[in-house]
Parts: sequence; structure tokens; C-alpha cells
Amino acid sequence: MTNPRTALVTGGSRGIGGAIAERLAAEGYSLTIAARQEAALLDAAQRLRKVHGVEVHTVVADMTDEDQVRALGAAHAERFERLDVLVLAAGLGTAGPVATMSKKTLELMLNVNLRAPIALLQETLPQLRKSAALEPGRGAKVIALASMAGVAGEAGLAAYGATKAALISLCETLSLEESSAGVAATAISPGYVDTDMTAWKRSQLDQAAMLTTGDIAEMAMAITRLSSNAVVPNIVISRAGSELWRA
Ligand SMILES: NC(=O)c1ccc[n+]([C@@H]2O[C@H](COP(=O)([O-])OP(=O)(O)OC[C@H]3O[C@@H](n4cnc5c(N)ncnc54)[C@H](OP(=O)(O)O)[C@@H]3O)[C@@H](O)[C@H]2O)c1
Repeated sequence: MTNPRTALVTGGSRGIGGAIAERLAAEGYSLTIAARQEAALLDAAQRLRKVHGVEVHTVVADMTDEDQVRALGAAHAERFERLDVLVLAAGLGTAGPVATMSKKTLELMLNVNLRAPIALLQETLPQLRKSAALEPGRGAKVIALASMAGVAGEAGLAAYGATKAALISLCETLSLEESSAGVAATAISPGYVDTDMTAWKRSQLDQAAMLTTGDIAEMAMAITRLSSNAVVPNIVISRAGSELWRA
């Protein structure tokens, strides 16, 4: 195929974003993957090229810096003629209660988990609309990694949960505004997933009891295959056990 489908994955070097990038590559997508640490990003890209034979563009970008976020969107447009799937996986979580939440912590999480997704959406919407017009039956998809903490508040995850609730709302609004033109957004809201981000939780919660990155990537891939008639606002993924609405 001369003009394969493409995806841009933030946080695509490892964890959930890495697993989604892997599945997209396995389905033949050309990719832009982004993160801060260049070495990990280059390693991931090299592996995806070698295993799946797809084109992978790497962009070092810090989601706390709006100029770098916007440059990431522009870099994808420069390299590829279309954008079929935008995966917003770069995210940050710092535990802490409402009572002592520092301004610095709140700003950092707002920047990475909410402001960066908004800026990247603004930057890439023309590309997503163009791809949706190229394949009207399928449309273009935005997949944002939110969290169970954004669906049901969890003590100790005040700022994180608030930014993820905002991200879920952002996905709903985007679909309301853009889905009749073929661009639909889905938030994925899992409980604890076994990644570097949850290393701090391993002393309290057995790694084997956590969701796997494959569980989340499976849901993301299902979204990419839906027709443009379907809008899925939010996919909540609970861990096995006796409580549904907890991380
Ligand atoms: N793990 C969970 O239990 C869980 C549950 C629900 C939702 N989520 C959400 O899922 C997403 C992925 O989480 P994960 O567990 O896969 O995390 P992870 O394993 O820590 O990976 C995070 C990814 O994001 C990148 N990243 C982090 N901060 C960044 C920044 N400031 N600018 C650019 N890139 C940045 C990291 O690369 P660099 O460090 O190189 O930048 C890495 O590629 C997050 O949005 C998270 O909130 C996770």
C-alpha cells in the first residue's frame, strides 16, 4: 500500500502507549511515537520496524511544553499524509490528598494530562478530519487514556482523578462536535495496569492482580475498527474482584 493508515501515539515508548503502538504496527499502521527519553523511544521504534516492517517516526517531546506538543502534531503532518488514529497515552500521576495538594503538583498534572491533549487535538484536528474524509465509512479516531480515578473518585488521587475526569469530558465534547464529520473520541478508563507507573503500588497490590497492557491495547484496537457511525464515549475497565468502581 502506498499510503497506509497512520497513527500518532504519545507515551509510545513503553507501558500502555507502547502496547498500543505495537498492535497498531502489527496491523500495518505507519507510526509517529513520542516521549521525552530519546533512547527508549529509539529502541521502541527500532523494534517495531524490525518486527513489523512499518515506518516509525520518533519525536522527542515533553508534554509540559505547549510548543513541543504543537511541534509534535506538525511533525506528524510533515512526515505523513494522513492521521487515522491519535492515541493520547502520555500521562502522569502523583498521589496526594485534596487537603495538601500543592500548586506545583496540580499544575504538572493539568499540563500533561489535560492541556497537552487539548493542544495536540487542536494541532491535529485538520489531519484527523482529512483522514476521515478519505475513509468516510471508518472515520478517524482519538483514543485518550483516562483512568478509573476519573470515573469514581479514589482517596489519595485527587489531582490525577480530576484531570482524568476532565479528559473523559473532553472526549465526549469532541465527539459531539466532530463525529458527524467522522472524527470520534473514546476515553479508556482502566483500574491499575501493570506498568512503570504503578511500580509504587506493588507493595500493596500484587502485580498479578493488575490489568495488563494487552487488555488496554485490545480495547483500543477494537475502537480503531469501528465504523464512523459508532461513537463510544468511555470504556471503563475494572480489575477482577468484588469491587467494580475502584482503581
Ligand atoms: N498504569 C496504570 O495503572 C494506569 C491506569 C489508568 C490510566 N493510566 C493512564 O495510561 C497512560 C499511560 O500510562 P502507563 O501506565 O503506560 O505509564 P508509563 O508506563 O509510566 O509510561 C508513560 C509514557 O508516557 C511518557 N511520558 C510521561 N511523561 C511525559 C511527558 N511529560 N511528556 C511526554 N511524554 C511523557 C513516558 O515516556 P518518557 O518518560 O520518556 O517521557 C512513557 O512513554 C497515562 O495517561 C496514565 O495516566 C494508567
